[in-house]
Amino acid sequence: QEDKFKQVIAHAKEYGYIFSSSEIYDGLSAVYDYGQNGAELKKNIKEYWWRSMVQLHEEIVGLDAAILMHPKTWTASGHTEAFNDPLIDNKDSKKRYRADVLIEDYCEKLEQKAQKEIKKAKKRFGDDFDEAQFVSTHPRVVKYKQQQKEILQRMAKSLDNGNLYDVKALIEELEIACPASGSKNWTDVKQFNLMFATKLGASAETATDLYLRPETAQGIFVNFANVQKTGRMKIPFGIAQIGKAFRNEIVARQFIFRQREFEQMEMQYFVRPGDELKWFEYWKDLRAKWHQSLGINQELYRFHDHEKLAHYANAATDIEFDFPFGFKELEGIHSRTDFDLSAHEKLSGKKLQFFDPELNKSYVPYVIETSIGLDRMFLAVFSSALKDETLEDGSRRTVLQIPPVLAPVKAAVFPLLKKDGLPEIAHEIIDELKWDFNVIYDEKDAVGKRYRRQDAAGTPFCITVDHDTIEDRTVTIRHRDTMEQKRVKIEDLQGILDQEVNM
Ligand code: GAP
Repeated sequence: QEDKFKQVIAHAKEYGYIFSSSEIYDGLSAVYDYGQNGAELKKNIKEYWWRSMVQLHEEIVGLDAAILMHPKTWTASGHTEAFNDPLIDNKDSKKRYRADVLIEDYCEKLEQKAQKEIKKAKKRFGDDFDEAQFVSTHPRVVKYKQQQKEILQRMAKSLDNGNLYDVKALIEELEIACPASGSKNWTDVKQFNLMFATKLGASAETATDLYLRPETAQGIFVNFANVQKTGRMKIPFGIAQIGKAFRNEIVARQFIFRQREFEQMEMQYFVRPGDELKWFEYWKDLRAKWHQSLGINQELYRFHDHEKLAHYANAATDIEFDFPFGFKELEGIHSRTDFDLSAHEKLSGKKLQFFDPELNKSYVPYVIETSIGLDRMFLAVFSSALKDETLEDGSRRTVLQIPPVLAPVKAAVFPLLKKDGLPEIAHEIIDELKWDFNVIYDEKDAVGKRYRRQDAAGTPFCITVDHDTIEDRTVTIRHRDTMEQKRVKIEDLQGILDQEVNM
């Protein structure tokens, strides 16, 4: 798995998908730039989301709110008070850790021990091995699993109660029982606010403290009445937004999975109080279908219903994805009640209500939120697409099987040779197709090598112009995944691509 993760990072760089930010200055931790192919893939994911959420839903409209917002926004939303991570420093190594992540690392150590036992037994029993039975009965494995559960429960309870001393005590105990950090001398645990602060205004006396938004959702809540009134929206209706969010993350070791600057695609669906759980189920189902529609292996997805809920929620679930470092949250679907709108109503003194003609009364709507990290979706698409294949003739190829609808470049057009008028025809084809598709020209190296290059870059189709093309206006079109080649008319290319790569 570790190797796969390294391969993903190296491949993303080699093929112009992702670079470290300001790399010539050795980069900036947990900040990334999207290269020529990355920018296209990102744009295509956004478009795919926007079309299915906004264009295909009559009752959902878009919004593009500012990143900078009035500071009271974050008082109302609870971020000023409670958007914190528990931090602990080690005095010997001078290293800073997120206490909860460190504790999860200890659990990971225990899990590794359990997995080792399972592997050993698998080898010993061969085909007869019943893993579920083994895990539930083998004394050491049962102990390791039980310990993990107890540790996580104790941590959650201590953090909930603000008992940071116990979090420290837990880390000290665990460091002795199953060393993970290699350090002993700890400071107390402190809460650290994740919002990036900045100043609005030039002079020191008049400048106002602001924050870069840590989620896009609040831009939607503060515009609820504007959009509802000007769009004459009737409940249920939704407001969708794609935009940057910023969090001063402490643990930054999972590539674009956890960044300090990232993008969210969020939708707030306003419903009648009492109807929220029905709509929660509806959105859970619809968002799962959205992921399914991309054709990514469904075994890489799972739902994780929250047992423990945030103070504002009455139901919540995560769509988790099997990233190269294991299953982690990709998207959250939350039933947020009237928490946000009520808090903004209270602090602003402005009415944030809906007059429901059927009930003949006004109320603060309840909200179902769907929130997906664009960068995480990018990583899900990219990491699951990257494959090493052994071909029938024993040779190997690296292929990036990005769903064609999301692929940065839809087709590469090659002249077989750099002469005899073949490049001119290839350019003519590009001039025809470029109005509807992102297509590129490539004439360097032998055709086989060009195919491999496009396979690895994720281009679903290669179109080759050869000497027969001059005679009969046909070309070879090759499919990235099946490697099948077909002879087709130039005039049919438009229709073929339209069929294969458009939404
Ligand atoms: N409005 C709700 C909200 O912001 P969240 O679970 O904190 O909820 C939603 O974030 C989604 O944003 C996550 O599921 C994840 O995909 C993405 N996300 C959160 N923090 C991120 C980070 N530091 N880097 C990249 N994506 C992140």
